[in-house]
Amino acid sequence: MRAPRRFRADRASPRLLRVPVGERTELWTETVGALPPVYGERWSELAGRLCRAFDPIRAKLAAGIVRGWEGPLPSPGQRWLYLGAATGTTASHLADLLGPSGRLYAVERSVRPFARLTELSERWPNLLPILADAREPRRYSHLVPPVDGVYADIAQPDQVEIVRANAALFLGGSGAAVLLALKTASMGRAIGPAGHLARAEDELGRTVDLAASVKLDPFHRAHYLVGGSARAELFEDRPGARPR
Ligand SMILES: C[S@@+](CC[C@H](N)C(=O)[O-])C[C@H]1O[C@@H](n2cnc3c(N)ncnc32)[C@H](O)[C@@H]1O
Repeated sequence: MRAPRRFRADRASPRLLRVPVGERTELWTETVGALPPVYGERWSELAGRLCRAFDPIRAKLAAGIVRGWEGPLPSPGQRWLYLGAATGTTASHLADLLGPSGRLYAVERSVRPFARLTELSERWPNLLPILADAREPRRYSHLVPPVDGVYADIAQPDQVEIVRANAALFLGGSGAAVLLALKTASMGRAIGPAGHLARAEDELGRTVDLAASVKLDPFHRAHYLVGGSARAELFEDRPGARPR
């Protein structure tokens, strides 16, 4: 493990480290997990902190940060809900950002990736896997307490509605975070990527104060990171704000 010499912790998410390497900046997360690597990523000690390279080619959240995302990010001690966790490539990094006192509730509906996610959770104690369909959030509502953020990467035609419904049910209240890795190729070819982005922003923007969306090309073709902070309107259909 060769350690890069200089790094800067992110102000909003202090377990996210930015390491200048020539003209580029590498992202690393201070890990809560244990070796071996999850997807072949590098591990290194930075100033006594055990960290993992957060690869924008493999993780859309990392791509969003590299492309200039200025919206909310997971921070230590928070609870987040992750929709479409697959084998845990990105979910393990979100769990890192939440730190040992935070919790990541990771929903995946396919059995094979879920089996690997479950194995991973044995080495990531703050990652709690849930085998479920994110279109039916009430079915896992007994497993998920009010959360500070929802992150979705589910590549479905109705991905915007799925993230909205989960955010409305699980977010602790206004100001909580909603992030969607929007895959426009899953939404049909009648309109192009920019048209799908505009529709997603219009739909989410009714109940979320949106940060500027960022395009994830060239790391992830025709994807965008979209989201921001929930407004009170998101919770209009539920009887009173959920207690924190
Ligand atoms: C693009 S992959 C996610 C990759 C992952 N987020 C990462 O970066 O490591 C999409 C995942 O969403 C899951 N998925 C799709 N529809 C779902 C649904 N309705 N409920 C739960 N998971 C779903 C798929 O099984 C797949 O594992």
